[in-house]
Amino acid sequence: MNQLKHLAIIMDGNGRWAKQKGKIRTQGHKKGIQTVREITKWCAKNDISYLSLYAFSTENWNRPKTEVDFLMKSLEKYLLQETHTYHQNNIRFKAIGNIETFSNPLKTLIKDLEQSTSSNTALTQILALNYGSKDEIKRAFEKILLEKTYEKESDIQKLIESNLDTSEIPDVDLLIRTGGEMRLSNFLLWQISYAELFFTPTLWPDFNTNELREIIQSYQTRIRRFGSL
Ligand code: IPE
Ligand code: IPE
Ligand code: MG
Repeated sequence: MNQLKHLAIIMDGNGRWAKQKGKIRTQGHKKGIQTVREITKWCAKNDISYLSLYAFSTENWNRPKTEVDFLMKSLEKYLLQETHTYHQNNIRFKAIGNIETFSNPLKTLIKDLEQSTSSNTALTQILALNYGSKDEIKRAFEKILLEKTYEKESDIQKLIESNLDTSEIPDVDLLIRTGGEMRLSNFLLWQISYAELFFTPTLWPDFNTNELREIIQSYQTRIRRFGSL
C-alpha cells in the first residue's frame, strides 16, 4: 500500500465551468467553494493527514480587479462561515503563501483560524494563498540570509526545508490537477519532487468524492520506486 499522508490539489476550471453554463466566472468560483468543503470533509474522514489546496497564486493578481476582489471577498466569507466546519470535523487550518500583502482584517482572520484550530487532529487543511513556489523559495532564502538561520542548522537541505512555508509538513504524495491543463503553475515545486501526478479534465466545480476515490485507488496501483529498483 502506498502511503497517502499528503494530498495536494490544483483546483482549476472554475471559469470554464461557469462559461459552459452561460454564467459569469465568479459563479464558477462560488460553486468551486462547495467542492472545497466537500473534499476537505471527505479527507478528514478518510485518514488523509494533509490536504493542500491551491486557492490563489502569486500570478493570479494579473486577473481583472473585479475577479481578484471577488476572490478575496469569497475567501474572507469562507473563513468566517466555515469556522464551525473546521471544529466539527476536527480540522486544523494552515495558510501558506505570502499573506503579508493581504488586508489587515483578512490577515487577522487567517491567523485567528490557524490559532483556534491548532489542536485539531483529523486533517490539516493547507490553503495556498498568494502562493507561488518560486516566491516561497525566495522568501526562505531571505529568511536564511537576513535572519542568519544558517548559524543554527548546518544540514543545508534541512535548512531550506525548515524555512519554507511547509516546514513541519511532509512532502506531497499525490498531486491532482483538475481542469485538464498539464502544468504545475508554480505550485509546491520543492515538495512534489517525488509525488505521483494525476491530471483530470473534470472542472473543479464538478469534481467530487467519487472521482477522488477512483484517483486514490489508481494511485494505490502505482509503484513508487524513489530511484531504487
Ligand atoms: C481556478 O479556476 C481558481 C483560481 C485560479 C482562483 P480558474 O479561475 O483558473 O478557472 P479557469 O481555468 O479559467 O477555467
Ligand atoms: C492555478 O490555476 C492556480 C490556482 C488554482 C489557484 P491558474 O488558472 O491560475 O493557472 P494557469 O494560469 O492556467 O497556469
Ligand atoms: Mg485556470
